[in-house]
Amino acid sequence: MRHVAVLTSGGDAPGMNAAIRAVVRCGVAKGWGMYGVHNGYSGLISGNIREMGTRDVGGILQKGGTILGSARCEEFKTENGRRKAIRIMSQSGIDTLVVIGGNGSQTGSFHLNKLGFPVVGIASTIDNDLCGSEMTIGVDTALNIALEAIDRLKVTASSHHRAFLIEVMGRKCGYIALMAGLAGGAEYVLLPEIEIDPEEVAESLRLAYEKGKEHAIIVVAEGAKYNADALTAYFDNNKERLGFKIRATILGHVQRGGAPGAFDRILASRFGNGAIEAIDRGESGVLVGLNKGKITTTPLEEVVGKTKEISMEMVKLAHILD
Ligand code: F6P
Repeated sequence: MRHVAVLTSGGDAPGMNAAIRAVVRCGVAKGWGMYGVHNGYSGLISGNIREMGTRDVGGILQKGGTILGSARCEEFKTENGRRKAIRIMSQSGIDTLVVIGGNGSQTGSFHLNKLGFPVVGIASTIDNDLCGSEMTIGVDTALNIALEAIDRLKVTASSHHRAFLIEVMGRKCGYIALMAGLAGGAEYVLLPEIEIDPEEVAESLRLAYEKGKEHAIIVVAEGAKYNADALTAYFDNNKERLGFKIRATILGHVQRGGAPGAFDRILASRFGNGAIEAIDRGESGVLVGLNKGKITTTPLEEVVGKTKEISMEMVKLAHILD
């Protein structure tokens, strides 16, 4: 009989609860002992671990956030911290850990696994910047929240003949910005991966104005060199020639807090089951992800320290359609 613990780590993502539920219930279905670690890696180090049964994960499928809590933990970044975590898990009789999280969290999984403790990761971050999975838990819901905001801002932008700069999350990766821009019909999208001259943005606004458009939408990733604040500051001295008046909206954490949509609930449920099946096959040091419609496992060493590349095909399409 196995004893498996699960934790959530890093930025929360809609669908994390659905993944916790699937891990616990699929583990229980195999007759295993299942445990929840509270507050990410810091809970692991302090021993904040409780046994979980199927009823403990009842009623959480539709809830945003994570019932286990999340934290960023400096101590776990040290080897001493990780060895302490292993000691605590071994004392509690736990033999495997499932980590639901993004890039930083899976780097932690990788190092823990390298110290000899079996870990299986589940790809979860709204940024969709994790290699080893075409989609991560939370992306679809966050994208739809950003899109709803864009649609709403478009309405008021039209009434006032304004241009709106809408900043979405994505420190290193412009996936949400690019896809929200594509789905929201933005005039321009600014990404961390592609450096632009702000004059290009000014030109696209001027062209939109000349074409008689009643509004303009610029979607900006928070990690772009010219984020909403930088672009507003730049345009503050150049307002007249743009045609439109500019307003900026920073969506921030509102994108992370929503109840998961159907896609994320199903993806997270499949990932949770995928993690338990991987453990049952004796796999560890892998990330459970989605590739070509199938649940896959990818060695963590091929995942960590990298950022998924943006699709240049989508960038091109966004430019053609703007
Ligand atoms: O979850 C990923 C992410 O949303 C990034 O896009 C963002 O930069 C970061 O988390 C901010 O999270 P926090 O404020 O929790 O550190």
